[in-house]
Amino acid sequence: APAAYENILTSTPKPGVGLITLNRPKALNALSSPLFKELNDALSKYENDEEIGAIIITGSEKAFAAGADIKEMAPLTFSSAYKSNFIAPWSYLSSNVRKPVIAAVSGYALGGGCELALMCDILYCTATATFGQPEIKLGTIPGAGGSQRLTRAVGKSKAMELILTGKNFSGKQAGEWGVAAQVIEGGKDELLAAAVDTASVIAGYSRVAVLGAKEVVNKSQDLGVREGVEFERRVFHAIFGSRDQKIGMTAFAEKKKPEWSNE
Ligand code: HXC
Repeated sequence: APAAYENILTSTPKPGVGLITLNRPKALNALSSPLFKELNDALSKYENDEEIGAIIITGSEKAFAAGADIKEMAPLTFSSAYKSNFIAPWSYLSSNVRKPVIAAVSGYALGGGCELALMCDILYCTATATFGQPEIKLGTIPGAGGSQRLTRAVGKSKAMELILTGKNFSGKQAGEWGVAAQVIEGGKDELLAAAVDTASVIAGYSRVAVLGAKEVVNKSQDLGVREGVEFERRVFHAIFGSRDQKIGMTAFAEKKKPEWSNE
């Protein structure tokens, strides 16, 4: 049975797919520390579950997440934030989760909500989703990677404009700018169905190859092209040591469907 969470829901909509639904409707899924603790717990369970091949994070029709919890942050001091390493738990997703994570964004994805979506490996949204980094309006700045990931996604000038004005952008724009891999026609149901289909496709491939593919794409964000290509080649060579490379290529030659061993 799934763990009893207070701020999230978990389910398996299709074999191999772990779905996490942010569920703090009264606060538009504001990302409090207790919520993040549960999110990280659910992520680590899926990460360690052999049955799960891909993970989805979604919210409600109205809000993916309206930001970090402003009421929790309001009284913080430098010393309290520094000592507790406030926001550090948010790095669990980007640093420790090696299985692919899809963000399915409907409604508000503001501040930390936008940053959480940007941390995911693939972002799907509705055309009417509302993204933004409004921290400047609260007298602060993005604190969960928005200044880095949004800038890599949309370029410096547009990121500066968004972060310095705090103006929102739509799901439609997110698609045009390459922030979103797909803008899904319709509402939350259609959005989630599309995310589940994609997660299911990914979960149907060799776990070893999927881990390798995610790892090398992510290196492109940290390395220059030459080191990145060299890193890719090392991982590519390493994958000849997997059983699934033999299974996949033999199945092709024999015109059969590969039955992955995940080894
Ligand atoms: C805490 C929040 C919240 C948030 C909404 N709520 N966003 N509580 N933190 N980020 C609460 C409201 O206080 C309210 O609670 C309830 O959710 C419903 O919100 P309303 O404002 O009444 O809804 P609506 O009028 O529909 O407006 C929706 C909204 C607005 C436009 C999204 O809620 C809003 O502007 N929210 C804040 C967006 C924001 O600034 N996000 C960035 C946060 S800073 P009550 O109790 O009154 O019913 C941030 C820093 C990240 O994320 C850096 C570190 C990660």
